[in-house]
Amino acid sequence: MSDVLTSSPALEARGLVRRFGRTVAVSDLSLSIAPGELYGLVGPDGAGKTTALRLLVGLLTPDGGEARVAGAVSHAAGGALRASLGYMPQQYSLYGDLSIDENLRFFGDLFGLSSTNFRERVAHLLGITQLTRFRDRRADALSGGMYKKLALACALLHRPRALVLDEPTNGVDPVSRRELWELLYTLVDEGLAVLLATPYMDEAARCHRVGLLQGGRLIAEDAPAALVRAFEDLAYFVTAADRDAAEAALHDLPGVRALSPHGPGLRVIVAAADAEAFRRRFASADMRWHLEPTAPDFEDVFLMRSIDAE
Ligand SMILES: Nc1ncnc2c1ncn2[C@@H]1O[C@H](COP(=O)(O)OP(=O)(O)O)[C@@H](O)[C@H]1O
Ligand SMILES: [Mg+2]
Repeated sequence: MSDVLTSSPALEARGLVRRFGRTVAVSDLSLSIAPGELYGLVGPDGAGKTTALRLLVGLLTPDGGEARVAGAVSHAAGGALRASLGYMPQQYSLYGDLSIDENLRFFGDLFGLSSTNFRERVAHLLGITQLTRFRDRRADALSGGMYKKLALACALLHRPRALVLDEPTNGVDPVSRRELWELLYTLVDEGLAVLLATPYMDEAARCHRVGLLQGGRLIAEDAPAALVRAFEDLAYFVTAADRDAAEAALHDLPGVRALSPHGPGLRVIVAAADAEAFRRRFASADMRWHLEPTAPDFEDVFLMRSIDAE
């Protein structure tokens, strides 16, 4: 019995489909997140991240397939689900005119925590989020980072087994962003399953495993480093003060699959099979720019997987 329990996924989607009118927001989505795993659902605006998360936490009913949290079917589980799940929506979810303390109390009552348990959890959560000093401050007077930390504390009050976060660092300054990430790592180390949605590639690269979402479909899934290792193209960096001219000239060289502005130049993705021809043409075409091979990164992976999937 305990084997079954420990090996069962904390969060699971099987063939999930959700439409809004003629828009297919989520299409045949399957994923499985284990206890202690930090999984990132990555994709641009409109990819279907929020819809996928809302299906998983039972706020939306699927048109097809099934979502489960700790084994219970999400849209049918009601209160049982709430006990094992913490959810932080993308939009504001707290009471702006209530203080930190009052917001926590509201969620404590909602989850039916005993007063001893509540006091202990609040002390712990305010401690790890470094919000203790501000507990009398109204939520709408908090900075972006503090607001998100409070939302996280509220979602964690009842010790859920799975945490679902929709763009948790949106509107958060870099320092608070790093603190939030450290907090997430601590939580997964303690065995929590975390599913987060993000449009940021640098954040995706910090997850144990990522799913790349495009047009509601999962187009790739693996550990970020494994996806980078499997990258088949070559990446180059071209230093060019006159970027537009360089871009126009590079555009037609053999094997060039993508060009994007990058610092004082351009990042160029070249098909491996054409790399030699590309370099030869670059050298012979009177190019006045400097060409340098560079290691592919997760952003390159996402870009090329997206182009390939189109
Ligand atoms: N309630 C809704 N009504 C109509 N269309 C929606 C609704 N929610 C989402 N969509 C559409 O579904 C697609 C996916 O949206 P969403 O899940 O919010 O993506 P993301 O979170 O990745 O930005 C978009 O085309 C969006 O316009
Ligand atoms: Mg969203």
